[in-house]
Amino acid sequence: MGKALEGVKILDFTHVQSGPTCTQLLAWFGADVIKVEKAGEGDVTRQQLRDIDGVDSLYFTMLNHNKRSITLDTKSPKGKEVLIELIKHCDVLVENFAPGALDRMGFSWDRIQQINPRMIVASIKGFGPGPYEDCKVYENVAQCAGGAASTTGFDDGPPIVTGAQIGDSGTGLHLCLGIVTALYQRQATGKGQRVQAAMQDAVLNLCRVKLRDQQRLDRKGVMEEYPQYPEGEFGEAVPRAGNASGGGQPGWILKCKGWQHDPNAYIYFITQAPVWEKICKVIGEETWITDPSYATPKARLPHLKTIFSRIEEWTKTKTKFEAMEILNEYDIPCGPILSMKELANEESLRATGTVVEVDHPKRGKYLSVGNPIKLSDSPTEVTRSPLLGEHTDEVLAQLGFGKDQIAELRQSKVI
Ligand SMILES: CC(C)(COP(=O)(O)OP(=O)(O)OC[C@H]1O[C@@H](n2cnc3c(N)ncnc32)[C@H](O)[C@@H]1OP(=O)(O)O)[C@@H](O)C(=O)NCCC(=O)NCCS
Repeated sequence: MGKALEGVKILDFTHVQSGPTCTQLLAWFGADVIKVEKAGEGDVTRQQLRDIDGVDSLYFTMLNHNKRSITLDTKSPKGKEVLIELIKHCDVLVENFAPGALDRMGFSWDRIQQINPRMIVASIKGFGPGPYEDCKVYENVAQCAGGAASTTGFDDGPPIVTGAQIGDSGTGLHLCLGIVTALYQRQATGKGQRVQAAMQDAVLNLCRVKLRDQQRLDRKGVMEEYPQYPEGEFGEAVPRAGNASGGGQPGWILKCKGWQHDPNAYIYFITQAPVWEKICKVIGEETWITDPSYATPKARLPHLKTIFSRIEEWTKTKTKFEAMEILNEYDIPCGPILSMKELANEESLRATGTVVEVDHPKRGKYLSVGNPIKLSDSPTEVTRSPLLGEHTDEVLAQLGFGKDQIAELRQSKVI
């Protein structure tokens, strides 16, 4: 069976997390991703957070599956010549260098277009045009600048960053969509274009509902489904809402049996309106079905704390999995708080390829997250990340370089 992006060639200039997330997805969809790394060093993450001495880190291996790696000193004149051949050969250049780095290397958008007018140039930067456009940015900076941190955490505590890498991987996903869209448009126009995704913008896009709430707050001064209501004060900006869903269906994280010693013995419980009667029956609080203070969603809003603490009395008598099983029987939306250990061992995730075991020549077997996007006619087979420069000779030969030329480039440390 073919792959969706078969035949698409990616010049992958990405490093760390945001860009590699994007090019890994393209590789999973079948593109030939040629990762260009600094000769002698490679992507800095190869050496970061190492768990085995001298072996590419999980940080690197889990973000660079299915790619080929070549080393190239793109600042040397000979290296630039090779890069020009790569630009001619490829359809898309993806980069997440610090602002201006590609220009400083001598490859501005204009220059790339002269070399290959069909080339799509896709970039991730921390910020779009504006006061911070020249800043270098990492994950948590983006979470803070994009509105996630100010709206995450509890009201009486500081802003909190989340474990989900919405700044890096989130932006990589956005860029990936931009690239395939530009490839689609190129079929009609025959021309490449620039695709840009700023990390601040991607995080804000993922925080869209909080900008919705900002405007509701501006208009009404309160938000009744936030935990600050009815006792707390609302300020001018959307407050941190703890574990409240903040949407139309109130929810909270509740303790389950064993919470005293297991930090993940919790369940997310949603008091969805259509199943209110069933909730009351399950927890044994049947008077709430008709009591005017509890019978309607609006009437319940001032009592959410009381309601959730009563439900918690019930959840504390069950493990999160027992609670899940009972609640699912009644169609009551809920979710166990799953630890990474539990997820790693979850059989259904293994069966769908969302968690995969990959073999690596130096580290042996390790677990990774496979492609979360499933295409019925383009199945993903996750293969290991490349060793540094593993495919340099192979790729240069494909570009037309002869054995002697390759030897010369190696001797002069261009590759
Ligand atoms: C992530 C980031 C902060 C890292 O910064 P950094 O470690 O200083 O790395 P840079 O991107 O600035 O690149 C460093 C240099 O290596 C050079 N370089 C990269 N690949 C090279 C190669 N193959 N050969 C020669 N030089 C190379 C770059 O040209 C740059 O040189 P310059 O500073 O003289 O212009 C920065 O790249 C950034 O802000 N990127 C955009 C936002 C982003 O993606 N952040 C999330 C990261 S997960």
